[in-house]
Amino acid sequence: MSSPTLQTTHILLLGAGELGTAFLTHLRPLLNIHITIGIRTPSKYTHLVSPTTPPSNRNMSLTSIDLTAPSSTLSQTFSHFDVIISATGFAQSPASIVKLAEEVLEAGRIRQARLQSQMPSNPETKEKDSKIWFFPWQWGVDYDITGDGQGLMPLFGAQRDVRNLLRREADEAGVKWTVVSTGIFMSFLFEAFWGIVDHSNDSSATPSLKQSGAGKGDANGSVTVHALRDWEHKVTVTDVDDIARVLARIISGDVDAENKILYTAGETVSYADLADIVERVSGKNVIREVWDLDQLEEEVKRHPEDGIKKYRLVFAREGVWWDKKGTVNEELGMNLLGVEEYARELFGSSSRGV
Ligand SMILES: NC(=O)c1ccc[n+]([C@@H]2O[C@H](COP(=O)([O-])OP(=O)(O)OC[C@H]3O[C@@H](n4cnc5c(N)ncnc54)[C@H](OP(=O)(O)O)[C@@H]3O)[C@@H](O)[C@H]2O)c1
Repeated sequence: MSSPTLQTTHILLLGAGELGTAFLTHLRPLLNIHITIGIRTPSKYTHLVSPTTPPSNRNMSLTSIDLTAPSSTLSQTFSHFDVIISATGFAQSPASIVKLAEEVLEAGRIRQARLQSQMPSNPETKEKDSKIWFFPWQWGVDYDITGDGQGLMPLFGAQRDVRNLLRREADEAGVKWTVVSTGIFMSFLFEAFWGIVDHSNDSSATPSLKQSGAGKGDANGSVTVHALRDWEHKVTVTDVDDIARVLARIISGDVDAENKILYTAGETVSYADLADIVERVSGKNVIREVWDLDQLEEEVKRHPEDGIKKYRLVFAREGVWWDKKGTVNEELGMNLLGVEEYARELFGSSSRGV
C-alpha cells in the first residue's frame, strides 16, 4: 500500500459480519484499492455494495467463497489477491482456521510461480510486493500465551498453531503476515451471556441490558459485576470500529507490521476499575462478586459442555491483557473508545449526566 505506484491493491475480505462490515467502512476510503468481499451467499450482502452505499461502492464487489471448499480451488482464488483479511467469526472449527492459513501459503507459492513465469528474467519478482499479505483470524487474545487453554479451547490452540505455521513457512511461501491482537470486542465485555456485567435484576435497564437469565441483584435494581479470578485481574478490550480504524492504518503502511504481532487496546481494565465505571455511569448500587479460579474450574467440571464457562476460566488466566503503552494505536497516536465512554452510551439516557 505504501508503494508510490498507482497500481490497485486487491484486497480479499473473508466474511462481512460484525467485524468485516466495520473493516469495509474504514478500508473503503483508502486510495487505489479494490475490496472483494468473499462470503458464502452474496445475495445476503448486496446492501453492502448498493449504489446508495456512501461514499462510493465502485471499489467493492461480492464473490461467493465457501471456505469449506477444496483447498486447491481456494488457493488458486487467493493467489490473485494482494491482501487477504479473515473476518469469518467465532463459529469456525479449529481445523478450518489452520486450513485457511495453509491455503494462503499455497496461494503465495502459486503467485510466486506465476510471477516468475511471467517475468523469468526479472529477479525482482520475488521481492516484497509479490507477496500476499495475510491477516489471519486472530482478532482476540494472545494465543501464544493462552495456548489451547489447557485443553479447554481447541480454537485458541489452533490460533497458536496458525502463528507457528506462519512463522515457519510464510517467508518461503511468499506470504507476509500480520496478527492484530485486539483483546475482546468492547461489546462482548457487556454481553448478557458473558455475565461479567449483569443487569438481569435491574428494573430500569433497557431490554438490551436485561437479556441475561443468570443474574443477581436486589429488588431496587442493582447491577452485579463479576471479577474473573480477582479484582486486580485485567482484560483488554477494543471496540470493533476502532479495530477497523487501526487496520486501515496498518494497511496504509503507517506502521512496521510485516511478520509481526501487533496489539491494540481501547483500554485495559482491571475488574475493580470495571465495577467502578459501571457504578459511576449507571448511578446504581453495584454488587461486586468474584468468580475465583477454583469456582470457575468447578463450574467447568460440572458443565463440561458449556462453552462460556470454559471461556470464562481461560479469561481468568494469562494472555488476555496487555499494557496500552505498547499498542499500535498508542504508537499511531490514535484516540480509541474507552470502557467508560462505551458504558455511558450503553447505559443510555437514564444514566447520562450521572
Ligand atoms: N475478540 C473478540 O471478542 C471476538 C473476536 C471475533 C468474534 N467475536 C464475537 O463473534 C461475533 C461475530 O464476529 P464476526 O464479525 O467476527 O463474525 P460474524 O458476525 O459471525 O460474521 C462471520 C462472517 O463470516 C462469513 N462466513 C462464515 N462461514 C463462512 C464460510 N465457510 N465461508 C465463507 N464465509 C463464511 C459469514 O458469512 P455467511 O455466513 O453469510 O456466509 C459472515 O459474513 C461478535 O458478536 C463477537 O462478539 C469476538
